Amino acid sequence: MAERFDAVDVIRTKRDNQPLSKEQVDWVVDAYTRGVVAEEQMSALAMAIFLNGMSREEIAQWTQAMINSGETMSFASLTRVTADKHSTGGVGDKITLPLAPLVATFGVAVPQLSGRGLGHTGGTLDKLESIPGWQAAISNERMMEILEDPGCVICVAGSGLAPADKKLYALRDITSTVDCIPLIASSIMSKKIAEGTANLVLDVKVGSGAFMKDLDTARELAQTMVDLGTDAGTNTVALITDMSTPLGRKVGNALEVEEAVEVLAGGGPDDVVELTLSLADEMLKAAGVPDADTAAALKDGRAMDTWRKMIRAQSGDPDAALPTAAHTHTVTADADGYLAELDALSVGVASWRLGAGRARRQDPVQFGAGIVLHAVKGDKVRAGQPLFSLHTDDEYRFERSLEVLRDGFTISAEAPARRESVVLERVTAR
Ligand code: URA
Repeated sequence: MAERFDAVDVIRTKRDNQPLSKEQVDWVVDAYTRGVVAEEQMSALAMAIFLNGMSREEIAQWTQAMINSGETMSFASLTRVTADKHSTGGVGDKITLPLAPLVATFGVAVPQLSGRGLGHTGGTLDKLESIPGWQAAISNERMMEILEDPGCVICVAGSGLAPADKKLYALRDITSTVDCIPLIASSIMSKKIAEGTANLVLDVKVGSGAFMKDLDTARELAQTMVDLGTDAGTNTVALITDMSTPLGRKVGNALEVEEAVEVLAGGGPDDVVELTLSLADEMLKAAGVPDADTAAALKDGRAMDTWRKMIRAQSGDPDAALPTAAHTHTVTADADGYLAELDALSVGVASWRLGAGRARRQDPVQFGAGIVLHAVKGDKVRAGQPLFSLHTDDEYRFERSLEVLRDGFTISAEAPARRESVVLERVTAR
């Protein structure tokens, strides 16, 4: 069958900063998925998009074309309304773990189709897989049953959703075209819209540990995604949240599960609790449950009950001991003062080098590896006081982890300005 377009013409159009037509976008995404457009041609097109951008119409069409490349899901048969959360990824971001059961406690269905981590931000599935017995892969039928009771499921996203994105994301990873707003927004939103949730809350991170390093680009990404969701009929809102310093006090897989359970037990670090409650309130408001007392549900154990059911529903044992690393090393303060800087990217890379993350998609992760922060940004510290404990199964990893961690914090005589809130802005449809 003759092809409708020539890839070279499509590349030239974008190279010359002209808009791609709907037909060109539909064709190139489909032809790439079929293998008719070669990897090197899509690389050139991705770079042209990176350099010249895309209009709102082009991004919407690109997103729709990626949705059309695969199957879509529907939660319409559920008796519960659905609400989903997506985070653009950060260091110590374990929020999905307490958030999903908390929201489900109020009668809303929370389908969290998640991925594994690559690079310095951890993957939600890697964290949950540190719970003995827990299974990430479940059938669609089982997922629907769990979404009725207990109401939340965190599982592996099926490969049938937006296969064009899967192929393109792997290509972007090796052609330096990942950090491009139209491509990030269409990548994330094609999967979320294909999933078919009615309500979506986006957590767009900003700061050294995030894709977006400054507020302006985070705003642009958030607005682009909110508009895409809204145009596609998904009720979408975004919170822009701080990722200049790690979230919480534990970074790693089992370590983050441990901290999530602290939050579900009514404790945990203030920033993790604040973000969990802010996102839960947004999801519940979107789903038509505006006055839920989410803080009370963390304090009185209702969210914990839902968590335990959710873990059991996927063959996990919520009472089993979590894996711990074979070796630990503690970094102490060398002076009195305040922890003035604690850089998210440095802590993320240090944790990754300890074995908590993977360098290649097929690598295993160490469940017990990671970093416990005994002090966080703004804390007063004394010389000799433990600042961070590094955990790993391989002692040789300490050196390279410490190399990056040492550059990631400063102790100064002056107290730094206290962050008022981890939530910086709220973005709604234009
Ligand atoms: N996450 C995605 O799914 N896609 C991107 O492009 C970036 C982050």
